[in-house]
Amino acid sequence: MSNLVIVGTQWGDEGKGKIVDLLAEYSDFVVRFQGGNNAGHTMVVDGEQFISHLVPSGILQKKVCIIGNGMVVDPGVLLDEIDYLKGKGVQIDPKVLLISQKAHVIMPYHKALDAAREGCGKSKKIGTTGRGIGPCYEDKAARRGIRFIDLLDEDFESNVRAIAEEKNFYLSKFHELDTIDVDELINTYKSYRDRLAPHITDISVVLDQAVRSGNRILFEGAQGTHLDIDHGTYPYVTSSNTISGNACCGTGIGPKRIDHIIGIVKAYTTRVGEGPFPTELFDATGDFLQEKGAEFGATTGRRRRCGWIDIVMLRNAVRLNSLTGLALTKLDVLGGLDEIKICTSYRYRGETIEHFPVSLNVLAECEPVFETIAGWKEDISGIRHVEDLPENTRRYLRTIETLTETPVDLISVGPGRNETIFMNHPFQ
Ligand code: IMP
Repeated sequence: MSNLVIVGTQWGDEGKGKIVDLLAEYSDFVVRFQGGNNAGHTMVVDGEQFISHLVPSGILQKKVCIIGNGMVVDPGVLLDEIDYLKGKGVQIDPKVLLISQKAHVIMPYHKALDAAREGCGKSKKIGTTGRGIGPCYEDKAARRGIRFIDLLDEDFESNVRAIAEEKNFYLSKFHELDTIDVDELINTYKSYRDRLAPHITDISVVLDQAVRSGNRILFEGAQGTHLDIDHGTYPYVTSSNTISGNACCGTGIGPKRIDHIIGIVKAYTTRVGEGPFPTELFDATGDFLQEKGAEFGATTGRRRRCGWIDIVMLRNAVRLNSLTGLALTKLDVLGGLDEIKICTSYRYRGETIEHFPVSLNVLAECEPVFETIAGWKEDISGIRHVEDLPENTRRYLRTIETLTETPVDLISVGPGRNETIFMNHPFQ
Protein backbone atom coordinates (compact mmCIF):
# COMPACT_ATOMS: atom_id res chain seq x y z
CA MET A 1 0.00 0.00 0.00
CA SER A 2 1.51 3.28 -0.98
CA ASN A 3 -0.93 6.02 -1.86
CA LEU A 4 -3.42 7.24 0.71
CA VAL A 5 -6.26 9.77 0.57
CA ILE A 6 -7.43 11.48 3.75
CA VAL A 7 -10.84 13.14 3.76
CA GLY A 8 -13.22 14.63 6.30
CA THR A 9 -16.46 12.71 6.81
CA GLN A 10 -18.59 15.41 8.44
CA TRP A 11 -18.71 19.20 7.85
CA GLY A 12 -14.97 19.84 8.08
CA ASP A 13 -12.88 20.58 11.16
CA GLU A 14 -12.55 16.88 11.96
CA GLY A 15 -8.87 17.24 12.85
CA LYS A 16 -7.41 16.25 9.48
CA GLY A 17 -4.32 18.45 9.94
CA LYS A 18 -2.98 16.40 12.84
CA ILE A 19 -3.59 13.05 11.10
CA VAL A 20 -2.01 14.25 7.83
CA ASP A 21 0.98 15.62 9.72
CA LEU A 22 1.30 12.30 11.55
CA LEU A 23 0.98 10.04 8.50
CA ALA A 24 3.12 12.33 6.35
CA GLU A 25 6.10 10.81 8.17
CA TYR A 26 5.52 7.64 6.09
CA SER A 27 4.95 9.46 2.78
CA ASP A 28 7.26 11.17 0.32
CA PHE A 29 4.76 13.65 -1.13
CA VAL A 30 1.77 15.40 0.43
CA VAL A 31 -0.73 16.89 -2.01
CA ARG A 32 -3.77 19.07 -1.52
CA PHE A 33 -6.38 18.64 -4.22
CA GLN A 34 -9.20 21.12 -3.54
CA GLY A 35 -10.28 24.19 -1.61
CA GLY A 36 -8.11 27.09 -0.62
CA ASN A 37 -7.52 29.20 2.43
CA ASN A 38 -11.07 28.52 3.61
CA ALA A 39 -9.37 25.52 5.28
CA GLY A 40 -7.35 25.82 8.45
CA HIS A 41 -5.19 22.93 9.57
CA THR A 42 -3.87 22.98 13.11
CA MET A 43 -0.81 20.94 14.02
CA VAL A 44 0.93 20.71 17.36
CA VAL A 45 4.56 19.56 17.43
CA ASP A 46 6.46 19.42 20.73
CA GLY A 47 3.84 21.71 22.25
CA GLU A 48 4.23 24.34 19.52
CA GLN A 49 1.16 25.14 17.41
CA PHE A 50 1.30 25.61 13.63
CA ILE A 51 -1.71 26.62 11.54
CA SER A 52 -1.64 26.28 7.78
CA HIS A 53 -4.35 27.31 5.35
CA LEU A 54 -2.76 26.57 1.99
CA VAL A 55 0.55 24.80 2.44
CA PRO A 56 -0.13 21.05 2.85
CA SER A 57 0.24 19.77 6.41
CA GLY A 58 3.18 17.55 5.36
CA ILE A 59 5.48 20.58 5.37
CA LEU A 60 6.43 20.00 9.02
CA GLN A 61 7.61 16.48 8.17
CA LYS A 62 9.91 17.95 5.48
CA LYS A 63 8.01 16.20 2.67
CA VAL A 64 7.52 17.49 -0.85
CA CYS A 65 4.28 19.45 -0.61
CA ILE A 66 2.09 20.10 -3.62
CA ILE A 67 -0.71 22.56 -4.22
CA GLY A 68 -2.91 20.70 -6.70
CA ASN A 69 -4.73 21.99 -9.76
CA GLY A 70 -8.07 21.54 -7.96
CA MET A 71 -7.17 24.28 -5.50
CA VAL A 72 -7.92 28.00 -5.59
CA VAL A 73 -5.02 29.97 -4.17
CA ASP A 74 -4.74 33.49 -2.85
CA PRO A 75 -1.07 34.20 -3.64
CA GLY A 76 -0.77 36.96 -1.03
CA VAL A 77 -2.00 34.58 1.66
CA LEU A 78 0.32 31.85 0.40
CA LEU A 79 3.35 34.15 0.58
CA ASP A 80 2.39 35.28 4.10
CA GLU A 81 2.07 31.64 5.11
CA ILE A 82 5.45 30.79 3.61
CA ASP A 83 6.99 33.68 5.59
CA TYR A 84 5.16 32.61 8.79
CA LEU A 85 6.37 29.01 8.47
CA LYS A 86 9.92 30.09 7.60
CA GLY A 87 9.81 32.34 10.68
CA LYS A 88 9.06 29.24 12.73
CA GLY A 89 12.10 27.49 11.27
CA VAL A 90 10.29 25.41 8.62
CA GLN A 91 12.31 24.95 5.43
CA ILE A 92 10.39 26.06 2.32
CA ASP A 93 11.91 26.36 -1.13
CA PRO A 94 10.89 25.45 -4.70
CA LYS A 95 12.10 21.87 -4.15
CA VAL A 96 9.68 21.22 -1.26
CA LEU A 97 6.70 23.36 -2.24
CA LEU A 98 5.29 22.94 -5.74
CA ILE A 99 2.27 24.72 -7.20
CA SER A 100 0.27 23.31 -10.10
CA GLN A 101 0.34 25.44 -13.24
CA LYS A 102 -3.39 24.76 -13.48
CA ALA A 103 -4.41 25.85 -9.97
CA HIS A 104 -6.63 28.92 -10.05
CA VAL A 105 -5.65 32.26 -8.56
CA ILE A 106 -7.94 34.11 -6.17
CA MET A 107 -8.11 37.77 -7.16
CA PRO A 108 -9.21 40.76 -5.04
CA TYR A 109 -12.52 40.94 -6.90
CA HIS A 110 -13.31 37.35 -5.81
CA LYS A 111 -12.96 38.35 -2.17
CA ALA A 112 -14.94 41.55 -2.70
CA LEU A 113 -17.79 39.66 -4.40
CA ASP A 114 -17.82 36.92 -1.73
CA ALA A 115 -18.15 39.53 1.03
CA ALA A 116 -20.67 41.59 -0.93
CA ARG A 117 -22.98 38.62 -1.60
CA GLU A 118 -22.88 37.40 1.97
CA GLY A 119 -23.62 40.84 3.35
CA CYS A 120 -26.08 42.30 0.86
CA GLY A 121 -29.25 40.46 1.85
CA LYS A 122 -30.11 40.04 -1.86
CA SER A 123 -28.98 36.39 -1.98
CA LYS A 124 -29.07 33.44 0.43
CA LYS A 125 -26.39 33.73 3.12
CA ILE A 126 -24.20 30.62 3.08
CA GLY A 127 -21.96 31.65 5.97
CA THR A 128 -18.84 31.44 3.78
CA THR A 129 -15.36 32.07 5.10
CA GLY A 130 -15.26 35.24 2.96
CA ARG A 131 -12.00 34.24 1.28
CA GLY A 132 -13.28 34.49 -2.31
CA ILE A 133 -13.41 30.71 -2.77
CA GLY A 134 -16.84 30.49 -4.43
CA PRO A 135 -16.35 33.39 -6.89
CA CYS A 136 -12.97 31.96 -7.93
CA TYR A 137 -14.44 28.51 -8.66
CA GLU A 138 -17.28 30.27 -10.52
CA ASP A 139 -14.75 31.93 -12.81
CA LYS A 140 -12.99 28.60 -13.32
CA ALA A 141 -16.27 27.02 -14.50
CA ALA A 142 -17.10 30.12 -16.58
CA ARG A 143 -13.65 29.97 -18.22
CA ARG A 144 -12.88 33.44 -16.89
CA GLY A 145 -10.31 32.31 -14.32
CA ILE A 146 -6.62 33.10 -13.99
CA ARG A 147 -4.41 30.05 -13.47
CA PHE A 148 -0.88 30.11 -12.17
CA ILE A 149 0.42 29.48 -15.66
CA ASP A 150 -1.51 32.57 -16.80
CA LEU A 151 0.42 34.69 -14.28
CA LEU A 152 3.54 33.80 -16.31
CA ASP A 153 1.89 34.52 -19.66
CA GLU A 154 2.71 37.63 -21.67
CA ASP A 155 -1.03 38.35 -22.06
CA PHE A 156 -1.51 38.37 -18.28
CA GLU A 157 -2.03 42.10 -18.03
CA SER A 158 -4.59 42.41 -20.83
CA ASN A 159 -6.47 39.29 -19.66
CA VAL A 160 -6.78 40.53 -16.11
CA ARG A 161 -7.75 44.01 -17.21
CA ALA A 162 -10.69 42.70 -19.28
CA ILE A 163 -11.97 40.44 -16.49
CA ALA A 164 -11.46 43.02 -13.72
CA GLU A 165 -13.44 45.64 -15.63
CA GLU A 166 -16.43 43.30 -15.75
CA LYS A 167 -16.10 42.60 -12.02
CA ASN A 168 -15.92 46.29 -11.28
CA PHE A 169 -19.19 46.72 -13.13
CA TYR A 170 -20.88 44.21 -10.78
CA LEU A 171 -19.27 45.70 -7.70
CA SER A 172 -20.29 49.26 -8.49
CA LYS A 173 -23.61 48.82 -10.30
CA PHE A 174 -25.14 45.84 -8.52
CA HIS A 175 -23.58 46.05 -5.06
CA GLU A 176 -22.95 49.82 -5.00
CA LEU A 177 -19.45 49.20 -3.66
CA ASP A 178 -16.00 50.63 -4.40
CA THR A 179 -14.31 49.24 -7.47
CA ILE A 180 -10.91 47.51 -7.58
CA ASP A 181 -7.93 49.61 -8.74
CA VAL A 182 -6.87 47.49 -11.73
CA ASP A 183 -3.36 48.97 -12.12
CA GLU A 184 -2.60 48.35 -8.47
CA LEU A 185 -3.98 44.80 -8.77
CA ILE A 186 -1.73 44.07 -11.77
CA ASN A 187 1.37 45.41 -10.05
CA THR A 188 0.66 43.48 -6.85
CA TYR A 189 0.08 40.23 -8.72
CA LYS A 190 3.25 40.72 -10.78
CA SER A 191 5.20 40.94 -7.53
CA TYR A 192 3.50 37.75 -6.27
CA ARG A 193 4.33 36.06 -9.59
CA ASP A 194 8.00 37.00 -9.28
CA ARG A 195 8.25 35.30 -5.88
CA LEU A 196 6.13 32.25 -6.68
CA ALA A 197 7.33 31.52 -10.26
CA PRO A 198 10.06 29.04 -9.19
CA HIS A 199 7.41 26.91 -7.44
CA ILE A 200 5.04 26.63 -10.44
CA THR A 201 5.21 23.34 -12.36
CA ASP A 202 3.26 20.50 -14.03
CA ILE A 203 2.42 18.46 -10.96
CA SER A 204 0.71 15.64 -12.85
CA VAL A 205 4.07 14.82 -14.43
CA VAL A 206 5.85 15.16 -11.07
CA LEU A 207 3.38 12.80 -9.36
CA ASP A 208 3.51 10.25 -12.16
CA GLN A 209 7.30 10.15 -11.93
CA ALA A 210 7.03 9.91 -8.15
CA VAL A 211 4.74 6.88 -8.33
CA ARG A 212 6.90 5.20 -10.98
CA SER A 213 9.92 5.62 -8.69
CA GLY A 214 8.09 3.90 -5.83
CA ASN A 215 7.35 7.00 -3.76
CA ARG A 216 4.36 7.19 -1.44
CA ILE A 217 1.81 9.94 -1.87
CA LEU A 218 -0.62 11.26 0.69
CA PHE A 219 -3.58 13.23 -0.66
CA GLU A 220 -4.85 15.72 1.90
CA GLY A 221 -8.53 16.66 1.71
CA ALA A 222 -9.90 19.90 3.08
CA GLN A 223 -13.39 20.66 4.47
CA GLY A 224 -15.57 17.53 4.70
CA THR A 225 -17.83 15.17 2.75
CA HIS A 226 -21.01 17.05 3.68
CA LEU A 227 -19.57 20.32 2.36
CA ASP A 228 -18.99 18.72 -1.08
CA ILE A 229 -20.49 20.80 -3.90
CA ASP A 230 -22.31 17.76 -5.38
CA HIS A 231 -22.91 15.50 -2.39
CA GLY A 232 -23.10 17.89 0.57
CA THR A 233 -25.97 19.87 2.04
CA TYR A 234 -26.32 22.11 -1.03
CA PRO A 235 -26.38 25.14 -1.11
CA TYR A 236 -24.73 25.22 2.35
CA VAL A 237 -21.54 23.72 0.99
CA THR A 238 -18.19 24.84 -0.29
CA SER A 239 -17.56 25.21 -4.03
CA SER A 240 -15.35 22.19 -4.64
CA ASN A 241 -15.62 18.40 -4.51
CA THR A 242 -14.27 17.41 -1.14
CA ILE A 243 -14.69 13.64 -1.54
CA SER A 244 -11.91 11.19 -2.32
CA GLY A 245 -12.66 10.94 -6.05
CA ASN A 246 -11.43 14.49 -6.46
CA ALA A 247 -7.96 13.46 -5.28
CA CYS A 248 -7.56 12.27 -8.88
CA CYS A 249 -9.16 15.20 -10.75
CA GLY A 250 -7.57 17.76 -8.46
CA THR A 251 -4.02 16.52 -9.03
CA GLY A 252 -3.94 14.80 -12.42
CA ILE A 253 -3.46 11.17 -11.43
CA GLY A 254 -5.71 8.23 -12.32
CA PRO A 255 -7.97 6.34 -9.86
CA LYS A 256 -5.90 3.15 -10.09
CA ARG A 257 -3.13 4.97 -8.19
CA ILE A 258 -5.16 5.15 -4.95
CA ASP A 259 -4.69 2.32 -2.47
CA HIS A 260 -6.28 3.40 0.80
CA ILE A 261 -8.82 6.04 1.88
CA ILE A 262 -9.15 7.13 5.47
CA GLY A 263 -12.13 9.16 6.64
CA ILE A 264 -11.52 11.43 9.59
CA VAL A 265 -14.40 11.34 12.07
CA LYS A 266 -14.63 13.67 15.03
CA ALA A 267 -16.02 11.73 18.03
CA TYR A 268 -18.97 14.15 17.97
CA THR A 269 -20.19 16.46 15.17
CA THR A 270 -19.53 20.16 14.54
CA ARG A 271 -20.51 22.63 11.87
CA VAL A 272 -19.67 26.25 11.12
CA GLY A 273 -21.80 28.37 8.84
CA GLU A 274 -25.46 27.89 8.01
CA GLY A 275 -27.46 24.76 7.16
CA PRO A 276 -29.37 21.91 8.83
CA PHE A 277 -27.66 19.78 11.49
CA PRO A 278 -29.93 16.97 12.83
CA THR A 279 -27.92 16.05 15.94
CA GLU A 280 -27.13 19.64 16.98
CA LEU A 281 -27.26 20.24 20.73
CA PHE A 282 -28.63 23.47 22.16
CA ASP A 283 -28.12 22.53 25.80
CA ALA A 284 -25.37 22.28 28.40
CA THR A 285 -23.89 19.19 26.69
CA GLY A 286 -23.45 21.22 23.49
CA ASP A 287 -21.68 23.93 25.51
CA PHE A 288 -19.52 21.26 27.17
CA LEU A 289 -18.37 19.90 23.79
CA GLN A 290 -17.80 23.40 22.41
CA GLU A 291 -15.71 24.49 25.39
CA LYS A 292 -13.81 21.27 26.11
CA GLY A 293 -13.19 20.70 22.40
CA ALA A 294 -12.18 24.38 21.89
CA GLU A 295 -14.52 24.43 18.93
CA PHE A 296 -13.65 27.69 17.24
CA GLY A 297 -12.87 27.83 13.49
CA ALA A 298 -9.13 27.91 12.72
CA THR A 299 -9.82 30.23 9.76
CA THR A 300 -12.52 32.62 10.94
CA GLY A 301 -12.52 32.13 14.74
CA ARG A 302 -16.27 31.47 14.58
CA ARG A 303 -17.87 29.35 17.33
CA ARG A 304 -18.66 25.92 15.95
CA ARG A 305 -22.11 24.39 16.42
CA CYS A 306 -21.82 21.04 18.27
CA GLY A 307 -23.86 17.83 18.39
CA TRP A 308 -23.70 14.05 18.80
CA ILE A 309 -22.04 11.73 16.31
CA ASP A 310 -24.29 10.92 13.35
CA ILE A 311 -24.00 7.47 11.80
CA VAL A 312 -26.40 8.35 8.95
CA MET A 313 -23.84 10.95 7.85
CA LEU A 314 -20.93 8.61 8.40
CA ARG A 315 -22.49 5.83 6.33
CA ASN A 316 -23.01 8.41 3.58
CA ALA A 317 -19.32 9.30 3.82
CA VAL A 318 -18.24 5.64 3.77
CA ARG A 319 -20.16 5.10 0.53
CA LEU A 320 -19.26 8.36 -1.22
CA ASN A 321 -15.56 8.05 -0.49
CA SER A 322 -15.05 4.24 -0.53
CA LEU A 323 -13.51 4.57 2.91
CA THR A 324 -11.21 1.72 3.84
CA GLY A 325 -10.74 2.92 7.42
CA LEU A 326 -11.68 5.62 9.91
CA ALA A 327 -9.56 7.85 12.13
CA LEU A 328 -11.52 8.90 15.20
CA THR A 329 -10.39 12.25 16.58
CA LYS A 330 -10.99 14.19 19.80
CA LEU A 331 -12.20 11.08 21.62
CA ASP A 332 -10.75 12.51 24.85
CA VAL A 333 -13.28 15.40 24.67
CA LEU A 334 -16.16 13.00 25.44
CA GLY A 335 -14.59 11.99 28.79
CA GLY A 336 -16.65 13.15 31.78
CA LEU A 337 -20.10 12.73 30.23
CA ASP A 338 -22.55 10.40 32.01
CA GLU A 339 -23.94 9.11 28.77
CA ILE A 340 -23.14 9.42 25.07
CA LYS A 341 -25.65 9.35 22.25
CA ILE A 342 -25.12 7.89 18.79
CA CYS A 343 -27.58 8.83 16.07
CA THR A 344 -28.36 5.61 14.19
CA SER A 345 -31.20 6.78 11.88
CA TYR A 346 -33.65 9.66 11.44
CA ARG A 347 -37.42 9.88 11.93
CA TYR A 348 -39.22 11.90 9.29
CA ARG A 349 -43.01 12.30 9.48
CA GLY A 350 -43.35 8.94 11.23
CA GLU A 351 -40.97 7.09 8.91
CA THR A 352 -37.47 5.80 9.56
CA ILE A 353 -34.78 7.21 7.27
CA GLU A 354 -31.52 5.28 6.91
CA HIS A 355 -29.91 7.23 4.04
CA PHE A 356 -28.83 10.86 4.35
CA PRO A 357 -31.63 12.82 2.61
CA VAL A 358 -30.86 15.02 -0.38
CA SER A 359 -33.68 17.50 0.26
CA LEU A 360 -32.67 20.10 2.82
CA ASN A 361 -36.32 20.56 3.79
CA VAL A 362 -36.51 16.87 4.67
CA LEU A 363 -33.16 16.99 6.48
CA ALA A 364 -34.24 20.04 8.48
CA GLU A 365 -37.34 18.13 9.69
CA CYS A 366 -35.48 14.90 10.52
CA GLU A 367 -35.42 13.90 14.19
CA PRO A 368 -32.37 11.88 15.22
CA VAL A 369 -32.98 8.39 16.60
CA PHE A 370 -30.37 7.72 19.26
CA GLU A 371 -28.73 4.71 20.79
CA THR A 372 -27.44 5.73 24.23
CA ILE A 373 -24.39 4.21 25.83
CA ALA A 374 -22.76 4.90 29.19
CA GLY A 375 -19.94 7.43 29.17
CA TRP A 376 -16.58 7.28 30.96
CA LYS A 377 -15.10 9.57 33.58
CA GLU A 378 -11.42 8.81 33.01
CA ASP A 379 -9.02 11.17 31.21
CA ILE A 380 -7.91 9.00 28.28
CA SER A 381 -5.40 11.47 26.80
CA GLY A 382 -2.43 9.57 28.26
CA ILE A 383 -3.50 6.17 26.88
CA ARG A 384 -1.51 4.75 23.94
CA HIS A 385 -2.95 1.21 23.58
CA VAL A 386 -6.55 0.42 22.72
CA GLU A 387 -6.75 -2.33 25.35
CA ASP A 388 -6.00 0.26 28.07
CA LEU A 389 -9.06 2.37 27.18
CA PRO A 390 -12.03 2.19 29.58
CA GLU A 391 -14.58 -0.50 28.66
CA ASN A 392 -17.23 2.11 27.81
CA THR A 393 -14.81 3.89 25.43
CA ARG A 394 -14.14 0.61 23.66
CA ARG A 395 -17.88 -0.03 23.46
CA TYR A 396 -18.25 3.38 21.75
CA LEU A 397 -15.57 2.42 19.20
CA ARG A 398 -17.05 -1.00 18.53
CA THR A 399 -20.50 0.53 18.02
CA ILE A 400 -19.14 2.99 15.45
CA GLU A 401 -17.27 0.23 13.62
CA THR A 402 -20.33 -2.03 13.55
CA LEU A 403 -22.76 0.65 12.44
CA THR A 404 -20.47 2.05 9.72
CA GLU A 405 -19.14 -1.38 8.71
CA THR A 406 -15.69 0.21 8.62
CA PRO A 407 -12.68 -0.39 10.88
CA VAL A 408 -11.30 2.37 13.07
CA ASP A 409 -7.62 2.45 12.06
CA LEU A 410 -6.51 5.03 14.58
CA ILE A 411 -7.72 7.20 17.42
CA SER A 412 -6.59 10.66 18.43
CA VAL A 413 -6.79 11.49 22.14
CA GLY A 414 -5.06 14.90 22.06
CA PRO A 415 -3.52 17.42 19.67
CA GLY A 416 0.10 16.19 19.87
CA ARG A 417 1.56 13.63 17.44
CA ASN A 418 2.15 11.11 20.23
CA GLU A 419 -1.42 11.40 21.55
CA THR A 420 -2.53 8.75 19.08
CA ILE A 421 -3.52 5.09 19.31
CA PHE A 422 -2.94 2.98 16.19
CA MET A 423 -5.14 -0.05 15.69
CA ASN A 424 -4.34 -0.73 12.01
CA HIS A 425 -1.42 1.34 10.80
CA PRO A 426 -2.18 2.30 7.17
CA PHE A 427 1.52 2.21 6.26
CA GLN A 428 2.69 -0.85 8.20
P1 IMP B 1 -16.59 28.84 1.54
O1 IMP B 1 -15.83 27.57 1.35
O2 IMP B 1 -15.76 29.93 2.17
O3 IMP B 1 -17.29 29.29 0.30
O4 IMP B 1 -17.76 28.56 2.62
C1 IMP B 1 -18.86 27.68 2.31
C2 IMP B 1 -19.25 26.85 3.54
O5 IMP B 1 -18.21 25.93 3.82
C3 IMP B 1 -19.46 27.66 4.82
O6 IMP B 1 -20.49 27.03 5.59
C4 IMP B 1 -18.13 27.52 5.54
O7 IMP B 1 -18.27 27.69 6.94
C5 IMP B 1 -17.78 26.08 5.18
N1 IMP B 1 -16.33 25.84 5.21
C6 IMP B 1 -15.42 26.17 4.28
N2 IMP B 1 -14.20 25.73 4.64
C7 IMP B 1 -14.36 25.09 5.80
C8 IMP B 1 -13.45 24.38 6.66
O8 IMP B 1 -12.26 24.24 6.39
N3 IMP B 1 -14.00 23.85 7.78
C9 IMP B 1 -15.32 23.94 8.07
N4 IMP B 1 -16.20 24.56 7.30
C10 IMP B 1 -15.72 25.14 6.17
